[in-house]
Amino acid sequence: MKVLVTGGAGYIGTHTVIELLAAGMEPVIVDNFSNSHPDVLDRLEQISGTKVRCYDVDACDSRALGDVFEKERPDTVIHFAGLKAVGESVEQPLAYYRNNLLAVITVAESMSKYGVRNLVFSSSATVYGDPDQVPIPEDAPLSATNPYGWTKFMGEQILRDVALADSKRRITILRYFNPVGAHESGLIGEDPLGPPNNLMPMIAQVATGQRERLNVYGNDYPTQDGTAVRDYIHVVDLAKAHVRALEHQIGTSGIDTYNLGAGKGYSVLEMVAAFEKASGKTIGYKIVDRRAGDVAVCFADTSLAARELGWEAMKTLADMCADAWRWQSRNIK
Ligand code: UD1
Repeated sequence: MKVLVTGGAGYIGTHTVIELLAAGMEPVIVDNFSNSHPDVLDRLEQISGTKVRCYDVDACDSRALGDVFEKERPDTVIHFAGLKAVGESVEQPLAYYRNNLLAVITVAESMSKYGVRNLVFSSSATVYGDPDQVPIPEDAPLSATNPYGWTKFMGEQILRDVALADSKRRITILRYFNPVGAHESGLIGEDPLGPPNNLMPMIAQVATGQRERLNVYGNDYPTQDGTAVRDYIHVVDLAKAHVRALEHQIGTSGIDTYNLGAGKGYSVLEMVAAFEKASGKTIGYKIVDRRAGDVAVCFADTSLAARELGWEAMKTLADMCADAWRWQSRNIK
C-alpha cells in the first residue's frame, strides 16, 4: 500500500513513516520543512534501511500537490501537515486558519481528482475544549479555546461533510492526547524551534542544561498534588495506531473518530519525578501562575480504539522519559 504522508518529516510524521515501513507499506513524504529539517530523511534511512521519497511541497499548493499525486498515484493519505503552536495561533490567527484549513481542503480536493478514497487526519484532544467529564469519550461535546484548536475543530467538520457527500470516502479522524518520547534509536524525536511550549521537551532541555529551569504552571488545581493532569502517550505507540487505522479502513466506508491516548493521567510533578529517575538529573522548577487556557485534568477514554482498531498504548511512562532523554541528550543544539 502506497501512503502519501503530508508533514511526514515532522515529529509524529517521522515516527509514523518508520512504522509504515515496518508494516510493509510504502510511505512517500510531502513536507515544506517549515518546522522540520531535511536531515531527518537520512535518519529515517539509518533506522529503516530504506530511502523514503520526499517532495518539498506545501500541502496548500494545489498544483504542486497535484503533481505529486499524478506522479505517485498513492492508495491512501495520512494528513499531518499543519501549524501547531497554540500561543502563536493566538498571535497569528489568519496564518493558522489559512494554513491548516487550506491544507485540509487542498488534500481532500487532490484526493477527489485522483480517485484516492482513504484518508487519516491528525486531530487533537484540543477539540474537547474544557472537558466536562474524564475520561473523555469521542462523543463528548466539541469546542476550542484558541485558533489552533478551532482549525482542528473545523478541519474535522470539513471532513465529516466530505464523507457525508460521498459514501465511497473512507476517513479516520485521530485525536491525539499528549504525544511525548522519541524513537528508541535516539535518531528522531521532537525538535521544536526556539523555547519549547510543551512540557516534555521543556523538562528534557532543563535536564541537559539548555534551559535554566521549568516553570510549573499552577499548583492549585483540584488534583493529587495541585498540578495539572494530562494523558501522555509515547509517540511510537501513536505512530502504530496510524498503521492500524489504515488496515481497518480496508473494505469499509464512512468516517470514524478515535481518541489516541494512554487512558491515564499524570500530573506535572509526576512527570518531573519520572524524568529525574530516567535521566539521573535533577529538574529545577518553580511554581508560577496558571497558563491561560489550561484545564485541570484531561485524559482519554480509549476503549473505542481498543475495540475497533485493536490498538492500545503499550509503552510506560518510564519508556517515554527514557526515550525522550536519549533523544534530547544526543541532540543538544
Ligand atoms: C498543548 C495544547 C494543545 C496541543 C498540545 C500538543 C494548550 C492550552 N494546549 O496541550 O492544544 O494539542 O499542546 O501540542 O497549549 N506545563 C508546565 N510548564 C511548561 C509547559 C507545560 O507546567 O513549561 C504544564 C501545562 O500547564 C499542562 C501540562 O504541563 O498542565 C502539559 O502542557 P503541554 O505539554 O503544553 O500540553 P497541553 O497544554 O496539554
